[in-house]
Amino acid sequence: MVEASHLTKYYGDLRAIHEVSFTARRGEILGFLGPNGAGKTTTMRILAGFTAASEGTATVEGFDVFRDSHEAKKRIGYLPENPPLYPDMTVRSFLIFAGGIKGVRTRELRRALDGILEKCALTEVSSRLIKHLSKGYRQRLGLAQALIHNPPVLILDEPTLGLDPKQIVEVRGLIKELSGDRVVILSTHLLPEVSQLCDKVVIINEGKIAVEKSLEDLTRGSTLEEVFLRHIAKDTIELDTPVEEGELP
Ligand SMILES: Nc1ncnc2c1ncn2[C@@H]1O[C@H](COP(=O)(O)OP(=O)(O)OP(=O)(O)O)[C@@H](O)[C@H]1O
Ligand SMILES: [Mg+2]
Repeated sequence: MVEASHLTKYYGDLRAIHEVSFTARRGEILGFLGPNGAGKTTTMRILAGFTAASEGTATVEGFDVFRDSHEAKKRIGYLPENPPLYPDMTVRSFLIFAGGIKGVRTRELRRALDGILEKCALTEVSSRLIKHLSKGYRQRLGLAQALIHNPPVLILDEPTLGLDPKQIVEVRGLIKELSGDRVVILSTHLLPEVSQLCDKVVIINEGKIAVEKSLEDLTRGSTLEEVFLRHIAKDTIELDTPVEEGELP
């Protein structure tokens, strides 16, 4: 289980998130939705232990991400917006390296590696240099490094960003397959992705949680698009408002 409780983060004077609270349980895929700059990445980075909150707490499987960051990190696989992959390493050597950093023993790593390569459809490219991989394969490698220590929690920041439609379908299938008994928290701008993948939806707007509900409850009587636009209404442009020439943003 992942529990965020009243998380607030300031970057200098800018309050990126304010009093963010939500929970995600095992077996659940939680879709984190919000316009650009809403605070999704900031929240995910806090949960993954990559940045500290200014106020509030967060726990991963009961471990505080600040006070018990070592234990919390062991239980999290994190796919950042731009996964840091080393272009001159091969896929296999990068995964061994990533496993080493996460403290996976060499024997366990050897045992797990082929399975992860296969699961992420990377077996055929395992000897290729990362710089020669297409975007879709890099994204799979990002997922594979997040999985290398078999964590019960996956935090995926826009996992299908920049992929072509075929790759999107494949990566979504992979996420569904990986979810199982895990907690998966993913951010996306693609509403169909949420409808297809997620059990629960959290909408964040201007750093504050606008709604936290099951997909089923949220879309009872409305489409997800309608619900989303309603919750971020302040940011939406009135489409029928006439715009004077020369006033275009
Ligand atoms: N390292 C940083 N230093 C200063 N401001 C930051 C930093 N990271 C994020 N911000 C600001 O915090 C706010 C929230 O940004 P964040 O990246 O969390 O949004 P997001 O919801 O992930 O947006 P996007 O959909 O564009 O990825 C924005 O105003 C952003 O400019
Ligand atoms: Mg982001």
